[in-house]
Amino acid sequence: MRVRRCAVVYLEPREQVEFDLEGLLSGGNGVRRTAEWAAHAPHLAQPVVLDEGQRDLLGTLSPEAWADATAFASGQGSVLESLLDAGLAVMEAPDGGSRAVHAQRDAQLRAGHWWAPAAMLHGAARWQGRDALAAPEAAGLAPADGLRRELGVPPPAVARRGGHGPQLPLPRSEGTEFDALLLRRATCRNFDQERALPRELLARMLERVFAAHGSWQADDDTVFLKKGSPSGGSLHPTGAYLLVQRVEGVPPGLYHYHPVDHALQPLPAPGEALDALAMRLLAGQHWFADAPVLVVMATRFARCFWKYRQHPKAYRAVIMDAGHLSQTLYLAATDLGLGAFVTCAVNEIDIEQAFGLDPLEEGVVAVSGFGWRAGQMRNAEFDPVGRVW
Ligand SMILES: Cc1cc2nc3c(=O)[nH]c(=O)nc-3n(C[C@H](O)[C@H](O)[C@H](O)COP(=O)(O)O)c2cc1C
Repeated sequence: MRVRRCAVVYLEPREQVEFDLEGLLSGGNGVRRTAEWAAHAPHLAQPVVLDEGQRDLLGTLSPEAWADATAFASGQGSVLESLLDAGLAVMEAPDGGSRAVHAQRDAQLRAGHWWAPAAMLHGAARWQGRDALAAPEAAGLAPADGLRRELGVPPPAVARRGGHGPQLPLPRSEGTEFDALLLRRATCRNFDQERALPRELLARMLERVFAAHGSWQADDDTVFLKKGSPSGGSLHPTGAYLLVQRVEGVPPGLYHYHPVDHALQPLPAPGEALDALAMRLLAGQHWFADAPVLVVMATRFARCFWKYRQHPKAYRAVIMDAGHLSQTLYLAATDLGLGAFVTCAVNEIDIEQAFGLDPLEEGVVAVSGFGWRAGQMRNAEFDPVGRVW
């Protein structure tokens, strides 16, 4: 049997803090602190807690060269077995079971050309079953006026640089329709819960934000698309998955949008009501969950990393791509008289499961949504220039 280390693993010396009743009753402070090593590996679902023997052996394994398992000292045999079971070491030819799954996931990660810190970051930042409202409420940070009280004075809103010579004042413009559009853009947290979106407006929005407006056939099997937003390397790796709740002529459900065919592909129905799923995916953010259309921006990493292999900037480019799509979506919606939002406080793992996405291949970067704004404000929106409300 030949073995090697998994492709990517980061060790975190971390501290577990637990309530300790016995310690409290015997005169202590009631807090038990335990130091441990956590191994973060993006091809595994959870971090793995290591003992010293596992940590030390892991440090001796090559991630590239296969080693004969019999070459390890006799005392290390069981430690190696435990690393294989955990998926931190992989076998060259496993014959089924969880070791084969670990080896296959590790091979998939290697083939994906990830820059290792980005793989670690993307994997570790994913949520499952979180409630985004609970932590800020518990910390006294909601509503927003609690921020200053609890967190102290923020850094100034604007940086003023001392420099070389006096400030050069710039002319203010009259403003065009585009300037007016920018002034009307505000994150919508009050969707009209009754009013459905016409199918034409859904189509228009998708056409503006996610559709290909043109293409260039570089080779028989190599196509580059042109879209309304810029994309690193013109690779456009980020696509749209939809949760449709209220659109005339489009049955409620889950869909994938095809940017060349300009068509919706229905996906298997989730095993729960769409409104409950929307709340779960948006980590309890009820002010967004009732939008007629939610758009999951999911990135096919391999498309970007095909060109930018193990590139330290590639993940940043992917995140920036999603930001551009989000702003295009905001402006497209505002222009059509609709409200829009974006959030990354989402339960990525729940979204992956709902839409059938493999996170090593297609990762959730953000969720947007759009629809008619309600006539009355139930949840705060940021509109200091008064162009929306
Ligand atoms: C990357 C990103 C993440 C955001 N996440 C959230 C969120 O989780 N919840 C929310 O209510 N708003 C979210 N927003 C919206 C911001 O709160 C909003 O842009 C900000 O308050 C300024 O308001 P405006 O968009 O109306 O100008 C997010 C915006 C961005 C760009």
